[in-house]
Amino acid sequence: MMKRVCLAAVLFVVVLSATVLAAEKGTASATMPTLRQAAGNRMLMGASLMSHELDDARRAAFIAEQFNCLTPGNEMKPDALQNVKGKFTFERADKIVAFAEAHGMTMIGHTLCWHNQAPAWLFMDENKKPLPREVALENLRNHIHTVMEHYKGRVKGWDVVNEGLDDSGPYLRDTPARKAIGDDFIIKAFQFAREADPDAELYYNDYNIEANYKRPKALRLLKELKDAGVKVDGVGIQGHWLIDNGNIKEIDEGIKAFADLGLKVMITEVDVDPLPRRQGAGADLSATQREGLDPYKAGLPDDVQQKLAERYRALFQVIMKYPQIQRVTFWGVDDGSSWLNDFPVRGRTNHPLLWDRNFQPKPAFRAVIETLQQSSVAK
Ligand code: GLA
Repeated sequence: MMKRVCLAAVLFVVVLSATVLAAEKGTASATMPTLRQAAGNRMLMGASLMSHELDDARRAAFIAEQFNCLTPGNEMKPDALQNVKGKFTFERADKIVAFAEAHGMTMIGHTLCWHNQAPAWLFMDENKKPLPREVALENLRNHIHTVMEHYKGRVKGWDVVNEGLDDSGPYLRDTPARKAIGDDFIIKAFQFAREADPDAELYYNDYNIEANYKRPKALRLLKELKDAGVKVDGVGIQGHWLIDNGNIKEIDEGIKAFADLGLKVMITEVDVDPLPRRQGAGADLSATQREGLDPYKAGLPDDVQQKLAERYRALFQVIMKYPQIQRVTFWGVDDGSSWLNDFPVRGRTNHPLLWDRNFQPKPAFRAVIETLQQSSVAK
């Protein structure tokens, strides 16, 4: 009898320590809520995904379990929806929208006007010269109307213009749309979008607009849109962040600046890059140039794993301060599917998200869940 009690006690301790250890390391634990559970009604938890990811039943179920909002990674970009003038191809995007609807998830449209992943004919002639303004405007109007009317009532909000601001220049990025239409191409895009679906939310989306160097340009743009009588519902801060902690205060100030304008703020493409970003590290590097740039091929060491978790915690602590932040979307689901395996250097092994390549939650997942839970308790 005594022996059995002892054995039971030993077993209990072993199981308990394994659970504590698992929890500590942020690995799977039966008691851990999902992201969408932890966020509750406070905000939407989104992910970007590619339509082919839904062919993997396990992955699809995982996505529906963790998230309650989807953004198509590529399927709603201009080259995916209208690569050939007048020939709209909605199938892949429709597949994502149908999945979202079947699982009670909110759908976000990304994006109606962007200088990347857009067919040349929209704003250029066959000699790559800007089209006359009226022709370019009609192309933009027709694209926006056809796409938004197709998804009317099914997509909550649209990134109307993506990345319209210049990084180093004084203000607007010199895109094909701007060259053909002029500086008011962003105003026009928002006007067309508002006409096409008056009930959809309309967002301006960009990277680093929370940072000091780019924030004034974003504030100027939002003011110009307002002065032109255009109603913008919200601002999307992409949130492609780096592991080093320096700019948390700047991010906080940036979010505040947009929230103070009375706008909704969304963090739309979150990932935190733990790999080195060396100056001039373009996509195609020789073996010598690559040296030291891909240090975590065998996995993220524990100290970096913890550092990543703390960085996520700090970011979410800031995010949770602002009721204006109504959605956080991660750019990808697991480390294996992140675009950062190929940017800014191709073919590295990156670890920027909350789950590893085997869908195991990382300490960063636990840090995010804890921060979401603490903030919901504090409310
Ligand atoms: C930008 C775009 C996204 C996506 C990422 C990289 O941030 O807004 O659509 O292309 O780059 O994958």
